[in-house]
Amino acid sequence: MPSDEDSMVVTPYEVKGDIDYDKLVKQFGAELIDAALLKRFEKHAGELHYLLRRGVYFSHRDMKWVFDELEKGNPFFLYNGRGPSGHTHIGHLTQFIFTKYMQDKFQVPFYFQLTDDEKFVHNFEMTLEQTNFFARENALDLIAMGFEPDKTHIIIDSEHAGTLYPLAIRVAKRITFSTVRATFGFTNSHNIGQIFYTSFQAVPSILHSVRVGRNVPCVIPLAIDQDAHFRVARDVLPKIGYFSPAILHSKFLPGLQQGGKMSASDPESAVFTVDPPKVIEKKLRNAFTGGRGNAAEQRKLGGNPDICSIFANYQLVFMPEDDKLGEIERRCRSGEMLCGECKGICIELATEYLTKHQERREEARDKIEDFLLKDP
Ligand code: TYM
Repeated sequence: MPSDEDSMVVTPYEVKGDIDYDKLVKQFGAELIDAALLKRFEKHAGELHYLLRRGVYFSHRDMKWVFDELEKGNPFFLYNGRGPSGHTHIGHLTQFIFTKYMQDKFQVPFYFQLTDDEKFVHNFEMTLEQTNFFARENALDLIAMGFEPDKTHIIIDSEHAGTLYPLAIRVAKRITFSTVRATFGFTNSHNIGQIFYTSFQAVPSILHSVRVGRNVPCVIPLAIDQDAHFRVARDVLPKIGYFSPAILHSKFLPGLQQGGKMSASDPESAVFTVDPPKVIEKKLRNAFTGGRGNAAEQRKLGGNPDICSIFANYQLVFMPEDDKLGEIERRCRSGEMLCGECKGICIELATEYLTKHQERREEARDKIEDFLLKDP
């Protein structure tokens, strides 16, 4: 029998097995977010975001240094991204929600990379026109979250190559094939676009420093699957004269089916930001929960929110208020509320949230140009 550690795989290109986050932190050489770090967040931001309070962002690299620099008067900038293989799902939204909180509280520049090149080289089914189309669709979701246009710079790799390429080759020169092979599990049959790509993902972590002409710390919120790119980048960037970016790792919003991963290429695994109300309702009605075999048993024993995909949706996106979430949890565990009622509440909240998001998303169509990074 393979151990958990053997069967668990978490890379940007494969997530499988039961995810043990504590093991991952050790395996990747990161650090758990502790009470002292949360205190510093609270002190500087004025309040702790619910995704920090609930331990969804749970691990980090170099955030203590980021706060040290901030206290010395050297604030950071933010960097985040999305691989446009399809529409944005609710899991991706958690990253946008958290980054928005960081921009609001710290009033710092934010670079957002849309990797139409990455999704093209990694997916033989998709043309570059398709990944570029989804890059612009995903940009609408970001803009709809209310980021500030004068502080937010959207990068589309295939369109901003003139800015990125001279920096990417400086990074690429320092990364050996054996490093990417070991980091991503590449073999001889991977194409050379895949092998080169990580140097493109590294670049926005220094782009602000390059633009302002001095080293500025960079903070990257992401789910832990993306860590591999930055393990490589963090080794290389100091060698070419820049800071290593600091990282904030989040857990995943689980897929809607039991044990399943949320995937942009599997429409049933997730609610997408463009789903109409009927589709939202159908997906959430069919979602895996922590309910018992029948109503009588559940009334007696209670449900289990720890394994429930509906509860995870509340926790990560649709229920920021701790008191409301606590009440849902209490009613579930005590057997007072059954899954049908709980799903109904989730459907109502998700529909309201996404209907508003979809309106703002349409308004964003006229704003994309304001947000695109202006090449020098
Ligand atoms: P992508 O498009 O796979 O994912 C975008 C971001 O969403 C996170 N994520 C999730 N978070 C919570 N729950 C989930 N179920 C879930 N699924 C995905 C990812 O970890 C990621 O943070 N190569 C990248 C694009 C990229 C990028 C970056 C991401 C370029 N530069 C900098 C983060 C930071 C990609 O394909 O992400």
